[in-house]
Amino acid sequence: MSAEIFDKVKSVLAEIETSNPQSPEEVEQFRITYLGSKNKIKPLFGEIRHIPNEQKKEFGQLVNTVKQAAEDKFQALKSASEAAQDQVDLGSIDLTAPGEPINIGSRHPVSITLNKIIDIFTRIGFNVAEDREIEDDWHNFTAMNTPEDHPARDMQDTFYLKDSTEMLLRTHTSSVQARWMTKNKPPIRIIAPGRVYRNETISARSHCQFHQVEGLYVDKNVSFADMKQTLLYFAQEMYGAETKIRLRPSFFPFTEPSAEMDVSCFICDAKGCSVCKYTGWVEILGCGMIDPEVLKNCGIDPDEYTGFAFGMGIERQAMMLYQINDIRLLFENDVRFLNQFKSAW
Ligand code: PHE
Repeated sequence: MSAEIFDKVKSVLAEIETSNPQSPEEVEQFRITYLGSKNKIKPLFGEIRHIPNEQKKEFGQLVNTVKQAAEDKFQALKSASEAAQDQVDLGSIDLTAPGEPINIGSRHPVSITLNKIIDIFTRIGFNVAEDREIEDDWHNFTAMNTPEDHPARDMQDTFYLKDSTEMLLRTHTSSVQARWMTKNKPPIRIIAPGRVYRNETISARSHCQFHQVEGLYVDKNVSFADMKQTLLYFAQEMYGAETKIRLRPSFFPFTEPSAEMDVSCFICDAKGCSVCKYTGWVEILGCGMIDPEVLKNCGIDPDEYTGFAFGMGIERQAMMLYQINDIRLLFENDVRFLNQFKSAW
């Protein structure tokens, strides 16, 4: 009698071991048969009462082995079917199809223009010098020969830091002249790009923040002719080999003599258009020989050294190069505008 029961249990074990469910439905059927609430193994435990005492232990172990075998097999089947579901059918994918296009950004027109300017000046030995945007009164104004009571301060009103008449947002990159000359001995040959601020109403042509590039050259025997030639080289590299320049007398407290430089309009070939307002000339920068007072303020002997300086707005040049008619477009971050410069760099 007990041998028969042993055989019955063994046959269930063999059944489990040899069964080979494939589809998810067959696997589910396997679970119901051997592990479900009315499974085939449960009643086998009840048979133990027909087993003689000395064989009870062996029998219990055997039924437990059957139960364990069913659980192990089911786990194995489950993971195999999950893995099969995760597997991509490579045959149904066209591996040669082009991928999703990656949206590449573009450089900002101000950066493109600045890079062009830097490129041109570094080719003739200028180094790039950068300094702070939050500046003190001395470096921005006083050292640049614009003391507190000087009427030229009115030309460049700015934003002062809260509760301070001393700290301000720099109005021009000329402050870097003072920063550099107080720390370095001539010969000095730098360009200083950076952001500047003015307390001005925002319009199509002016903004309360913009970018400038300053140029500074100090050495023995530097002349106005050196400045003119340097700026002619710049203008022709920037706007084309045929470009002409024109220097008009002007005033800056920190240069003497001072000039404003125009370039012949490269858009209409100086014939007259809306960009040059039908004059054939476009103003692009201010320049001049460094005032001896400025050299003195910065600890450089004006009897030994002379130099020239110039400053230009980068937005202005970008607007000319790319014929942009409203400066605000440069600050609005509208991608429909910015995307147009994808091929410009
Ligand atoms: N700092 C002047 C400005 O912002 C430009 C300039 C720089 C003029 C250097 C002369 C020399 O308008």
